[in-house]
Amino acid sequence: MSDAVETPQTAAPIRISNKIGALGSGDHPVSMGEIRTACIRTFGCQMNVHDSDRMRRMILDAGYAEVHSYEEADLVILNTCYVRENAVDRVRGHLGELNRLRREGRVKKVALTGCIGASGESADLQRKYDIDLVLGTHNTYELAEFVGLPTMRETYTPELPGTDGEHSAFVTIMTGCNYRCSYCIVPAVRGRMVCRPLENVVEEVERLVASGTRYVTLLGQTVDAWRQDGRRFCDLLERVADVAPRVWFTTSHPSNMEDRTLRLIGEKGTIVKRLHLPVQSGSDRMLKIMHRGYKAERYRRKIGVFREAVPDGTLSTDIIVGHPGETEEDHENTLGLVEDCAFDSAYIFKFSPRRGTEAAGLGAPVAPEVVQRRFLEVLRAVEQNAFARNQLKVGGVEEVYVRHGSTEDGKAIGETWSGHAVHVRTGARPGDYVKARIESAGPHVLYAGEPIA
Ligand code: 5AD
Ligand code: SF4
Repeated sequence: MSDAVETPQTAAPIRISNKIGALGSGDHPVSMGEIRTACIRTFGCQMNVHDSDRMRRMILDAGYAEVHSYEEADLVILNTCYVRENAVDRVRGHLGELNRLRREGRVKKVALTGCIGASGESADLQRKYDIDLVLGTHNTYELAEFVGLPTMRETYTPELPGTDGEHSAFVTIMTGCNYRCSYCIVPAVRGRMVCRPLENVVEEVERLVASGTRYVTLLGQTVDAWRQDGRRFCDLLERVADVAPRVWFTTSHPSNMEDRTLRLIGEKGTIVKRLHLPVQSGSDRMLKIMHRGYKAERYRRKIGVFREAVPDGTLSTDIIVGHPGETEEDHENTLGLVEDCAFDSAYIFKFSPRRGTEAAGLGAPVAPEVVQRRFLEVLRAVEQNAFARNQLKVGGVEEVYVRHGSTEDGKAIGETWSGHAVHVRTGARPGDYVKARIESAGPHVLYAGEPIA
């Protein structure tokens, strides 16, 4: 595959006429009359966003123009998430609409990729919605042949390169997961952990930085479980942080998170001081049922190390409420942990049974109205903490990395070195830094004034 293909990341619709330059690149020159169009819709986590980037390169290499609405597309690719049932429901809605558009002759082909594609449910969906191509997470490369490119070699390692030339890029360092959390479908659809060699990761980061990337996010289901020939995640992170001007990583597992990694976050100026460490529950009983492999106290201790090593850092987590068997006491323990850890933000999920996981067969479901109440209680506790912590930032001057350029209202969205999201009034471009004073704060975002020269 050519490395020179443009990979537009904008959410705004791209007119086909804008794309002719990209179509002419590589080995697949395409004349105006033959333009085929493809629309990629991504659901779920950053791993999926990254996989979509790879697929985008394939379709552009094959001479497709990318469009952003189904009506304009010959080929629609739904890159999907299977982690919770509501994600699948959303995809079903899209598949229904696509079926209708196809019957009207507006869409020609539909491909279903990603975690639903890898799940047991994909065959039923393919039949019901008459899907042309179903791919899992391990055989995305087969899309190449489908769109008319030479067949690619099968790859079980994440060796397909990421995006070039963008101000920020994802770099996959491992795929799959060796845990068996009771509720989680990921190991079934993404397989066991495969770690990418350190040298390959560092080479890719060097190449990205040389081509203009200013922000590298290391990706994997459990990045901190990365290891290779006696080297551990901390070693890899340090090497990457020496090469890239700005680095972050996600997602981590508390059982793998080493104290020296937490200290490195505080020491290295190029690492964003934001830790995402999913805890799932504050109850030892639930953590055991979930097979998380740690107790709440150990999690608290890790957070203590983080707060000490990175006093200005931000901390986020994932919490599941209403897992089968969760009692009021378990829930109280979760609220206690939320209070103690003072998270800056959290993703709170209502338990969603996934066929094939242990939790789906456990029984002892929690009543929906109880789940809803617990959800709101955890949410309120997190937001109160987050709001109070964000207020402490008001009045200070922050260096803000611009992630998304300004919209019509003149506000760009950026990130501080401590990992806070900031709205800032600036025309600066993505990848630029501006300095601005924080004027106010909500539970999720800081609001800055005009940049200071
Ligand atoms: N139900 C609810 N939340 C889930 N997660 C994973 N599986 C489920 C499920 N079956 C959540 C976990 C995980 C995040 C990515 O999604 O909190 O950390
Ligand atoms: Fe799922 Fe647990 Fe693996 Fe995370 S660590 S991907 S929750 S099985």
